[in-house]
Amino acid sequence: RQQEKEQIIKGHEFAAKLYHYFMGNTAEGKHALDYLRSRGFTDSLIDTFQIGYAPARWDFLASYLEKREFPMPLMEKGALVAAKSSGGYVDKFRDRIMFPIRDAKGQVIAFAGRTMGNEQPKYLNSPETALFRKSKVLYNFHAARAEIKRTSRIVLFEGYADVIKAWSAGVHNAVGGMGTALTEDHALLMRRNAEQVVLCYDGDDAGQSAAFKNLGMLLKAGLDVKIAMLPNRLDPDDYMEKYGPDRFRTEIVEGAVPPEKFKLLHLRRNFNLQDNEAKLRYVRTAIREVIATIESPTGREHYLKELASEFSAISSFESMKQEMHEIREQQQKKQRYGDNNDISWNNVRN
Ligand code: CTP
Ligand code: MN
Ligand code: MN
Ligand code: MN
Ligand code: MN
Repeated sequence: RQQEKEQIIKGHEFAAKLYHYFMGNTAEGKHALDYLRSRGFTDSLIDTFQIGYAPARWDFLASYLEKREFPMPLMEKGALVAAKSSGGYVDKFRDRIMFPIRDAKGQVIAFAGRTMGNEQPKYLNSPETALFRKSKVLYNFHAARAEIKRTSRIVLFEGYADVIKAWSAGVHNAVGGMGTALTEDHALLMRRNAEQVVLCYDGDDAGQSAAFKNLGMLLKAGLDVKIAMLPNRLDPDDYMEKYGPDRFRTEIVEGAVPPEKFKLLHLRRNFNLQDNEAKLRYVRTAIREVIATIESPTGREHYLKELASEFSAISSFESMKQEMHEIREQQQKKQRYGDNNDISWNNVRN
């Protein structure tokens, strides 16, 4: 068993080297290298992350593995190649930019392959294997570990490119979710290694909704969470290409906001705050769904004051406070008696 795993890792390490070498040193790999350079990946960054290229051939990797006498059934088990019904093996990845994915020890256990065209999926990830458990792996965790320990902080990104560019911007505690939804295992892994997580997801609706969804789970795991706010339509990589690494670090990462603030900003997306009707609806919803649920009285006061000063034309601080008070009373009543009629009956009888 253990030996099998070691063989599969050796196959992956070999494949990563081969893809990387092929991209940097052959005419056939040149357009892949150009693609990465045009996206702002420097050669040293490409080396550090061992990014490579899997050519548009059926058995490029398979033939090399066979020549080097890797046990092919194991290479198939590790999802590097697939067995043909006619015998022999074919590659899993063709004509894709290859990002090696490493485990916590730094060993290559999987790949993400990005198309340079419009093929779907944009990223093809290795399937789950005995070695690659997507729900437990964070991209770049191995390399980020030292800085995570030093700062007790993790900066979590959606995408591979985001992590790599952040790294080159000096954010060395950068890790990536694996495209799939963040799991409880991911949250616990982060909690074991850091106190704080800065969620740095894409600025589009999908990214912001994912941030909203994952926020609760990270808080439940006991992490102190801050959320980096990106301009609409930009992801961290786009932002760095447009505004540079310094602004990314100082304004986006250091400017990350606490959960309450994020929830208020997130809620705003659903309201078109042009007219007073909409503003009033927003104020009420913000009070009910965000501010009234804050545990600390000083926290509630702080965000209520902020809201009142922004929307002073709509309503006074005093009425907002009154509204929040009533909402909290209702919420507490509900909590005490529940919505369940039987339980209220018991309360009455006792
Ligand atoms: N992802 C995936 N499979 C897909 C699409 C996305 O696994 N078909 C994952 C990848 O980890 C990707 C992340 O989700 O990095 C975020 O997706 P997206 O924002 O669409 O891609 P980017 O990371 O921005 O990719 P790029 O900058 O290369 O376009
Ligand atoms: Mn190189
Ligand atoms: Mn995205
Ligand atoms: Mn993105
Ligand atoms: Mn991107």
